[in-house]
Amino acid sequence: MTQASRTPSPTRKVVIPVAGLGTRFLPATKAVPKEMLPVVDVPALQYIVEEAVRAGLPEVMMVTGRNKSAIEDHFDRMPEIEAALERKGDHARLAAVRRPTEMADVHFIRQGQALGLGHAVLCAAPFVGNDVFAVMLGDDLIDSRDLLLERMLEVQAQHGGSVLALLEVGISNIDKYGAVAVQPTDAEDVVRITDLVEKPRQEQAPSSLAIIGRYVLAPEIFAALRDTPPGAGGEIQLTDGIKALATAGQPVHGVVFTGRRYDTGDRLDYLKAVVRLAAERDDLGPAFRDFLVEFSADLTHTQ
Ligand code: G1P
Repeated sequence: MTQASRTPSPTRKVVIPVAGLGTRFLPATKAVPKEMLPVVDVPALQYIVEEAVRAGLPEVMMVTGRNKSAIEDHFDRMPEIEAALERKGDHARLAAVRRPTEMADVHFIRQGQALGLGHAVLCAAPFVGNDVFAVMLGDDLIDSRDLLLERMLEVQAQHGGSVLALLEVGISNIDKYGAVAVQPTDAEDVVRITDLVEKPRQEQAPSSLAIIGRYVLAPEIFAALRDTPPGAGGEIQLTDGIKALATAGQPVHGVVFTGRRYDTGDRLDYLKAVVRLAAERDDLGPAFRDFLVEFSADLTHTQ
């Protein structure tokens, strides 16, 4: 193991790939990036940045592609709107408009060609340098009461190397994910990862434990990704790069998540996320819960 992956200096950097096409949400995502779809009244991507900041990672690099300028606008100042709100004395909305600009230090880099998640992460190498860093995928919304990323950073500080978030998805769903072979450790929620396969067929999957969109990675991943040939779907896969680290003897651990997670890239899960988060809000929640109770009573009636 190298010195770099052992260094306990807390990382402050996170890479968020946002170059995906969002085909599952067409036509909504024809002109609007999928990461900007609102979950109640906040774009999905802002929840991801809130989570990063909460975990102590305020230095954000977004890896973007074509048609993503709305993301840059969202994390930039909007002087006209701000001035209008100031004139009206609408301090609550002013704070909400300023929040995305002020909460983090957001940078952007363009991934010229969509060559895969591994390639997107590699685009952020000059930003990351020789530090441990996190990768967060915009489709995975983790409930803010479940401190997954914080736990992963803790496990990385303890073991060095890299740490992935894992979820039991059932063998019939494993072909949509990266799958892992694991060994237990002393901690109940932590496993050692011995092998990884991207999007395996059910019969080839090493387990039904899937990688979900949170990673804490050692900087050695960049050298591994440079040597990674295209894999599943003809793309340079992050999973294959991490497998190379594990094969070379670098520690790779997994935190098995049992909390609340929504795949906002999936339409049904997206709807569930909107309903749950709206029902729990202090402002909208009471009226919305009343509506839901009435609505579901109607549904039971008409079924
Ligand atoms: C990516 C990763 C995959 C991981 C998944 C989690 O796949 O390649 O290993 O399991 O994210 O959401 P994608 O969803 O981009 O196809």
